Amino acid sequence: MNNISGKTKICMVIGDPVKHSLSPKMHNLAYKALGIDDEFVFVASQVKSEDLSDFIKGVKAMNIQGIACTIPHKRGIIKYLDSVDEVAQKIGSVNTVVNSAGLLKGYNTDWLGIINPLEKITSLKSKTVALIGAGGTARAAAYGVTKKGAKLTIYNRSLKKGEKLAKEFGGEALSLQNLEKIKDADIIFNATPLGMHPNENKTPIPKELIRKNQIVFDAVYTPSETKLLRDAKSAGAQIISGTEMFIEQGATQFKLFTGKVVPVDVMKKIFLKHSQSFCLPILKEGKEEILKIIKDNIHDFEYFEVWLDYIKDLDEFFIKNLINEFKDKLIIVFRRKNLETMKLSFEKRVKIIYLLENSGSLLDLDIISQKKELSLIRKKGVKISTIVSYHNYHQTPNDRKLKEIIDTIKEYKPSILKIATKCNSSKDALQLLRLLLMVKEKNMKCIVLGMGEFGIITRIFGSLWGNELTFTPKNKFESSAPGQLTKNQLETIFGIL
Ligand SMILES: NC(=O)c1ccc[n+]([C@@H]2O[C@H](COP(=O)([O-])OP(=O)(O)OC[C@H]3O[C@@H](n4cnc5c(N)ncnc54)[C@H](OP(=O)(O)O)[C@@H]3O)[C@@H](O)[C@H]2O)c1
Repeated sequence: MNNISGKTKICMVIGDPVKHSLSPKMHNLAYKALGIDDEFVFVASQVKSEDLSDFIKGVKAMNIQGIACTIPHKRGIIKYLDSVDEVAQKIGSVNTVVNSAGLLKGYNTDWLGIINPLEKITSLKSKTVALIGAGGTARAAAYGVTKKGAKLTIYNRSLKKGEKLAKEFGGEALSLQNLEKIKDADIIFNATPLGMHPNENKTPIPKELIRKNQIVFDAVYTPSETKLLRDAKSAGAQIISGTEMFIEQGATQFKLFTGKVVPVDVMKKIFLKHSQSFCLPILKEGKEEILKIIKDNIHDFEYFEVWLDYIKDLDEFFIKNLINEFKDKLIIVFRRKNLETMKLSFEKRVKIIYLLENSGSLLDLDIISQKKELSLIRKKGVKISTIVSYHNYHQTPNDRKLKEIIDTIKEYKPSILKIATKCNSSKDALQLLRLLLMVKEKNMKCIVLGMGEFGIITRIFGSLWGNELTFTPKNKFESSAPGQLTKNQLETIFGIL
């Protein structure tokens, strides 16, 4: 994606693990937007704590321009730096390192990622802030909110650590047994990883403790809408997501690395426009060809939808291999394109269901034609992530019928609920978009889309308004359903919007 040349400087994020980091995506997109993708490239490197000293030697030897630090290096890196900016020293944590002529200076931009979004909606002076957690992010929050005149109460699992933080920045520390008191706070800030992928059902506070006049801010940004934020939203509270923090801190970091300003709203636009998850449908018969398609496109698509019934000489070894190699990037489908009779026997499908257990891959099952598989999964308690879907290739049923279908789908507790119906008019498309908003309002992960010409609009706005993923072929001839736009077409449209 970048215009790398001999003069390109390297910036990178380090962490352990680091694979999940969205920093490379955000910075590279911003380089491109500002036309400096020939000057900078941003990569990720998994660095173990015991290797930090060697890593720093490498940074100097290779003249790496900037380092973003994530867990567990924010504190550990400090002793290897030539200097640390005053604020980062007070916070005691560095998330940004800049290399100026071989001298490494550490900064902290996390605190601005917390304060700036808050100050956009309220003044912090004399507000009461309930901070959950006492780690690196909590330190940045404690520094920021007390600097702005707020009163701090820290709730932490280890009370001693909370008390130490309260002593340093002023305020009181309570244990998680006293969480009840959080009801009195003006602002709640979660600085624990509770609710972070893959533990998306966790939350640091029970829903009943959230009140409608509070501001609830979650540092967790994968997923961007956590259970805590969904609970806060349904309690009527104002919410700020970890994505806001991530973008704000990233914009400051960007300036430190490049010397160039990228306005936060521009950074946000760039980032959010490219945050859609794209899924490449693969209806091929050749096993080698399928593996090659996935490998060739692994950086361009978040998911690959593999239609098993189309594969010639399908065997257990191939499926195991596929699952092992591509895990949570896979969506497995047992179906024909228009729900015709399958070739793959029920016994074989059951075997595959067990192969998928605990794999992280998703299995898409149709609520009408694949009830047998769904019942088996439920009855035997198979631990498998599912997309439970409803397909209607002829029409979009009325609202009442669709709501009934959704209620039936919910009984199978899917990871993602999917409704795909043929739109015979623009009215059908609008009905589906309204349905999508209604499902999102209830905090369900979903894909709601219309098939056919009239459904095209749902593929664009569905993607922007919260569909978990967008099915998109590389070219028109490889679509898995009528009305799919290609990835190029979608990206062009998102670029204009
Ligand atoms: N949005 C952004 O830009 C951004 C930036 C930085 C960090 N973050 C996110 O912020 C979160 C915290 O990161 P960090 O660097 O501050 O981590 P950290 O230094 O490891 O601190 C984690 C804190 O969470 C508490 N905690 C961990 N597991 C817990 C559990 N099961 N129950 C209760 N408390 C628990 C710990 O309590 P103890 O003290 O008792 O161990 C500790 O206080 C992470 O999810 C990270 O991804 C987001």
